[in-house]
Amino acid sequence: MGLAKRVVLAYSGGVDTSVCIPYLKKEYGINEVVAFAADLGQGDELEPIRKKALRAGATQSLVGDLVQCFIKEFAYPAIRANALYEGRYPLSTALARPLIARELVSVARKVGADAVAHGCTGKGNDQVRFDVAIGALAPDLKILTPAREWGMSREETIAYGEGCGITTPVSKKSPYSIDLNLLGRSVEAGPLEDPMVAPLEEVFAMTSSIDDAPDQCQEIEITFEEGNPVAIDGKELDPVSLIRLANTIAGKHGFGRIDIIENRVVGIKSREIYETPGLLLLIRAHQEIESLTLSADVLRLKSQIERQWSDLVYQGLWFSPLKDALDGFIDRTQGYVNGLVRIRLHKGNATVIGRSSNTSSLYMPDMATYGCNDQFNHRAAEGFIYIWGLPTRLWASARKTFDIDN
Ligand code: ARG
Repeated sequence: MGLAKRVVLAYSGGVDTSVCIPYLKKEYGINEVVAFAADLGQGDELEPIRKKALRAGATQSLVGDLVQCFIKEFAYPAIRANALYEGRYPLSTALARPLIARELVSVARKVGADAVAHGCTGKGNDQVRFDVAIGALAPDLKILTPAREWGMSREETIAYGEGCGITTPVSKKSPYSIDLNLLGRSVEAGPLEDPMVAPLEEVFAMTSSIDDAPDQCQEIEITFEEGNPVAIDGKELDPVSLIRLANTIAGKHGFGRIDIIENRVVGIKSREIYETPGLLLLIRAHQEIESLTLSADVLRLKSQIERQWSDLVYQGLWFSPLKDALDGFIDRTQGYVNGLVRIRLHKGNATVIGRSSNTSSLYMPDMATYGCNDQFNHRAAEGFIYIWGLPTRLWASARKTFDIDN
């Protein structure tokens, strides 16, 4: 492999990506490492992180504010897709990867780098997402992956860093591996590796425990326009502020914790803890407004498309022809997804208690009612059922195989 001269490294300020800087220079003979840290609303102070990369030996250290873009271009489409990997994980980490990859490529072009690098290990999903996305956007760029090759344990990595003057504060020496952004936190490793061990309260930072959640319930209303959440309790909010507020409200009531065994792309099962209060709340509300405004057949096909969309995003195929085509279907369905959903939050639960749509509801009260203004033609049911059941009757009379005593 022809060695790269200038590399742009996806930098988080953590142990692994910090050690990547001296490692790339020493072991790969790279002249210039340009560190790039993404602000995804994780709440970290980015300036100390930027400086840390310089201290670790980066020639340049850049920070990109990607929060708006992250929420508008990645989180909102996921809400419209009701995206839940394996029915449960709302992809908070997975959604950030294609954006970081896109930004890495763009920085690489600006600084004239011939390679990009990341600090993912060889057994996670994130390496797949970075490598596949970078490959799709810039097939000519080399991808350097020191943490996939160095074979060091966490202790050895910390020791290597210390040898290069990178100190790791005791507070950062947590047993957990944590990824975080505005959509949520993903926590794995340490005591969580035993699937029977309940997560300690120390794992969580965005959600209250059930014990600490208020005894009083809270009702909120979420407004959707063309499938996008646009207001909470009637107050219009830009996407970033809306997610922040949804996180605060849902988190306060202890809603949004997930504890699952999940199937990784590389073929293994892993135990994951997530807390994604706002995103999960908005998906729940979005499903509900769709149930009022989309036809039965569209809903049925869309739920299959949603599953496939979630698989693709989880598996690193954000930039792919199939994902693009599924987006076309999903976007086409969202024009009438307008209205309001009322949710009651209480002690870890978010229960839908009402939904309405002035412009787009397909719920017809005079068809649904059992009262005196019922407009449904009950007599018409007979002919409908005669024909609907015809194939079964023909099949049964030909086979005569139904044994009613069994
Ligand atoms: N398993 C999750 C995913 O694939 C989260 C991975 C988070 N990464 C981490 N370093 N904890 O999306």
